[in-house]
Amino acid sequence: MKTQVVIVGGGPSGLLLSQLLHMRGIDSVVLERRTKDYVLGRIRAGVLERGLTDLLREAGVADRMDREGFPHHGTLISYGDEMFRINFSEHTGHMVTVYGQTEVTRDLYEARERSCGALLFNVDHVVIQDADSDAPHVTYEIAGVSHRIDCDFIAGCDGFHGVSRATIPYRVRSEYEKVYPFGWLGVLSETPPVNDELIYATSPAGFALCSMRNSNLSRYYIQCSVDEDAANWSDDAFWAELKRRIPAAQADALVTGPSIEKSIAPLRSFVTEPMQWGRLFLCGDAAHIVPPTGAKGLNTAASDVHYLYHGLRQFYETGISDGIDAYSHKALARVWKAERFSWWFSSLLHRYPDQTAFDIKMQIAELEFLRSSPAAQKAMAENYVGLPY
Ligand code: FAD
Ligand code: DHB
Repeated sequence: MKTQVVIVGGGPSGLLLSQLLHMRGIDSVVLERRTKDYVLGRIRAGVLERGLTDLLREAGVADRMDREGFPHHGTLISYGDEMFRINFSEHTGHMVTVYGQTEVTRDLYEARERSCGALLFNVDHVVIQDADSDAPHVTYEIAGVSHRIDCDFIAGCDGFHGVSRATIPYRVRSEYEKVYPFGWLGVLSETPPVNDELIYATSPAGFALCSMRNSNLSRYYIQCSVDEDAANWSDDAFWAELKRRIPAAQADALVTGPSIEKSIAPLRSFVTEPMQWGRLFLCGDAAHIVPPTGAKGLNTAASDVHYLYHGLRQFYETGISDGIDAYSHKALARVWKAERFSWWFSSLLHRYPDQTAFDIKMQIAELEFLRSSPAAQKAMAENYVGLPY
């Protein structure tokens, strides 16, 4: 088989890239290790920056998002019973959209299927070969049968545990990592959200987040220890712990119900440099991870897709390779700023096991500064709605 771009990984990065390329007449084949239902079963991001919503429109997959997504013009931050709002629209002229990653992925699958895009599931043993030559190819197996695709370029969109990053030799790769000493326990429940905007909460018992997918689907998270098992958390225990961490008025108003999903995610900051080796380009979680506080993971994957898509378009439409040559440099410049924001926002709101009384006073002073300073709020809002591409 031969195609122009092989895309390893059929998560949101890979699907979005393949759909954008298709709109410009550039062929790709997407190789996904799991089944479609498995990918759609993962409950992940919920907040989309403007850069991502614009890309989804350009990809022709935004109709449902535009109908069913919710514009959010601000967010609440609470500490104990204190709470204040950061107004995104006032500080930046922009907002974010609440629309789940599951729905984005579903819309992308439907679009790829409508246009008969090559999307292969249950693909095993993907090996990227000769990426540093002018004639790369990828081998893989489906149901025990080996296949080979020759291509011009390879996009490594296979997430943190994929094979693409490891294809770049150690000698040319630098990795930067910070592992946080806690995780997030997340619950999805068919209950009305406690508030119509998100609440990022900190308290002596730790961090909590009240988020949502729609008017009868809530997403809540609480900071937990990394070695816990979600199965050991009863719904009652989860709701009781959440109520301890949000202001009393919101705790009283919280509507609880059975969880329909419950899982624990570790928190990590990670970046690999460079994001490109020869004709292989890393996109999204394959190249970087942020702690989820601030909802930057999917949005940063989208900015990578934007740079790679434009580089490939330029190459196929004009023969000029400036865009693809500059890919790693451009993507990383934005990635590190998203890393900084996610690290800062995580550090502000979580309790750390080795935190001193002084450290806690510093968090409170920083929260009070954010509450009272329009300049600090503007900086927060600018990052939250998404830095320009
Ligand atoms: P992935 O979504 O990981 O997709 C990679 C795909 O590649 C997967 O489908 C995988 O099966 C496939 N794959 C892996 N290895 C191979 C292989 N060898 N061969 C073929 N295919 C392979 N981000 C936000 O912005 N906001 C949030 O609120 C948020 N919450 C999150 C909550 C959790 C629990 C997690 C884990 C992440 C969260 N994120 C959030 C991060 C966000 O979900 C990711 O940044 C996003 O999924 C990245 O998309 P991706 O396509 O790069 O990678
Ligand atoms: C969600 C997750 C986040 O990490 C975040 O900062 C905001 C929202 C969510 O899943 O809804």
